[in-house]
Amino acid sequence: MLSWSPLAPHFYNLPFKIYVLLLGICSALKLTVPSHTIHGTEGQPLRLLVDYTFNMTISKIQIIWLFEKPPVSKYLISSVNQSVIADLEFGYKFTLMPPNASLLIKPLERNDEGNYIVKINIHGNGTISASAIIQVTVHVPVTKPRIYTEPPFGVVEKRGNITLKCTVEKGTHVVYEWMKNGNPIETSTNYSFSVNKDTLSIAPVVKEAIGNYSCLATNPVSAMESDVITPTIYYGPYGLTINTDKGQKVGRVFTLDKGEAVQLYCSADSNPPNIYSWIQRAENSTHPIKYGRSLEVAAEKVTQKTEYTCSAYNNMTESQAETHILVIIIPKGLEQLAQKGKYLSPLAIITGISLFLIVAMCLLTLWKRFQPHKVIQQKLQIRPEADYRKAQTISGHENALDDFGIYEFVAFPDPGGISRMSSRSVSGSDVIQGHDFHGTVYEVVRHIPEQQQEHQE
Ligand SMILES: *[C@@H]1O[C@H](CO)[C@@H](O)[C@H](O)[C@H]1NC(C)=O
Ligand SMILES: *[C@@H]1O[C@H](CO)[C@@H](O)[C@H](O)[C@H]1NC(C)=O
Ligand SMILES: *[C@@H]1O[C@H](CO)[C@@H](O)[C@H](O)[C@H]1NC(C)=O
Ligand SMILES: *[C@@H]1O[C@H](CO)[C@@H](O)[C@H](O)[C@H]1NC(C)=O
Ligand SMILES: *[C@@H]1O[C@H](CO)[C@@H](O)[C@H](O)[C@H]1NC(C)=O
Ligand SMILES: *[C@@H]1O[C@H](CO)[C@@H](O)[C@H](O)[C@H]1NC(C)=O
Ligand SMILES: *[C@@H]1O[C@H](CO)[C@@H](O)[C@H](O)[C@H]1NC(C)=O
Ligand SMILES: *[C@@H]1O[C@H](CO)[C@@H](O)[C@H](O)[C@H]1NC(C)=O
Ligand SMILES: *[C@@H]1O[C@H](CO)[C@@H](O)[C@H](O)[C@H]1NC(C)=O
Repeated sequence: MLSWSPLAPHFYNLPFKIYVLLLGICSALKLTVPSHTIHGTEGQPLRLLVDYTFNMTISKIQIIWLFEKPPVSKYLISSVNQSVIADLEFGYKFTLMPPNASLLIKPLERNDEGNYIVKINIHGNGTISASAIIQVTVHVPVTKPRIYTEPPFGVVEKRGNITLKCTVEKGTHVVYEWMKNGNPIETSTNYSFSVNKDTLSIAPVVKEAIGNYSCLATNPVSAMESDVITPTIYYGPYGLTINTDKGQKVGRVFTLDKGEAVQLYCSADSNPPNIYSWIQRAENSTHPIKYGRSLEVAAEKVTQKTEYTCSAYNNMTESQAETHILVIIIPKGLEQLAQKGKYLSPLAIITGISLFLIVAMCLLTLWKRFQPHKVIQQKLQIRPEADYRKAQTISGHENALDDFGIYEFVAFPDPGGISRMSSRSVSGSDVIQGHDFHGTVYEVVRHIPEQQQEHQE
């Protein structure tokens, strides 16, 4: 098998042709070789091609082949016209078929590497000569290279270094080239090579270094690429975000309509996968509520505002990331009210509610005058304890919107009723005590519409 570098014929032939031309002017003998450097493959036959022309009448043509490997020079083979004389030392290794001056070496061996000199003498009206030198290198084709990774297992980002070594079992004059995702790797701040480029060092190792690495081993007679290796690099967690089951990315605050439920997903980029946990922050304490990526938040189960924290921990990098989200529940009725509020000032709402209260009070006062006290007393006894409790559990607040409901006024004619009330230490604005002109005590009980009560409990 023959191969020569593509540049050589042009590069070498130019001065050589001039040389032959100068000779030719006087001699009329022209000797040309296609390449002055030939790469042969060990074990294969190699032909050293030589061409010559002359334009004079001749009587003899002599061809001589010599081998030179400093410091030794050897005679190989020669011919005069059709008769060939070989050096018996080499047996049938070298073949010459005159008048063709090309030499066949069969088989080519490692120690056949060196310079081959061809000399042609033409004898006619005088003798003219021409010679050329051909440099032969003998190569062993490369086998498929293999990459060894050091360390063989994963490396933690920014902490460790990676060394990749490319090796071939066989192959001479091997040149190595490294590729990442199919593109050649250049020397840079993160990548460095050994002198012969068989070793690639990655330092520092960052997430960006992740990729498919391969090495290409070539010599003038062959080229082989290794399998791809993907070094394990541990990194993260990066870019921790919370998404919902509808796929939307949510910010720091998420509003949820009363009666709805949402699945929150926590995700962050890391290798190996993060260990996720959800934490709920109460006043001072924090307690984990769930391990895993997702968290179901049902409006029924949370108070008006709850902060959830998602924590992602990578046990290889020993890094942790946290992000939190505030879930706010919007009661159904209020949403509409709030929308009206855009056009109606909050003051107007408060005034409206106040007016309603005054009218209700007047009506009750009138109603009370036509009702016997006994009936009221009976009613009071029937009234379940729960109604009172309900009235009390509605905590005090400034927001007039929270006062939304139906109010009932209950009169207490006897002092027993008063003591009963005070013993319960009523403090909320929802339970109001007051004396009318006749010395009657009123208790205002708030009824929140049925549907809302359900959710409150
Ligand atoms: C032979 O060729 C050379 C140039 O290559 C020329 O100078 C010379 O005259 C030629 N001689 C004959 C006899 O053709
Ligand atoms: C050598 O070959 C040339 C031409 O090919 C011929 O003219 C000449 O006679 C031959 N010489 C001998 C000694 O055979
Ligand atoms: C010499 O022989 C080789 C192989 O048979 C052939 O390729 C080449 O063209 C020949 N050269 C000449 C000048 O005939
Ligand atoms: C040899 O060549 C020269 C000139 O080139 C010529 O004068 C001479 O006669 C030739 N001799 C023979 C024997 O052809
Ligand atoms: C990684 O390489 C850098 C520079 O090449 C060196 O300073 C550092 O000690 C190496 N770290 C390890 C863990 O080998
Ligand atoms: C690396 O190779 C794997 C499989 O061979 C492939 O799925 C992946 O996309 C490659 N990565 C790059 C960055 O080319
Ligand atoms: C090289 O290292 C720097 C930090 O030292 C990093 O920012 C950059 O992404 C790295 N490039 C690659 C290709 O790994
Ligand atoms: C929270 O901690 C503060 C001081 O750290 C303390 O005064 C307060 O009572 C605590 N609240 C609860 C609910 O434990
Ligand atoms: C990291 O966690 C995984 C499971 O999530 C476990 O299999 C692995 O052993 C842990 N590694 C270390 C170093 O703790």
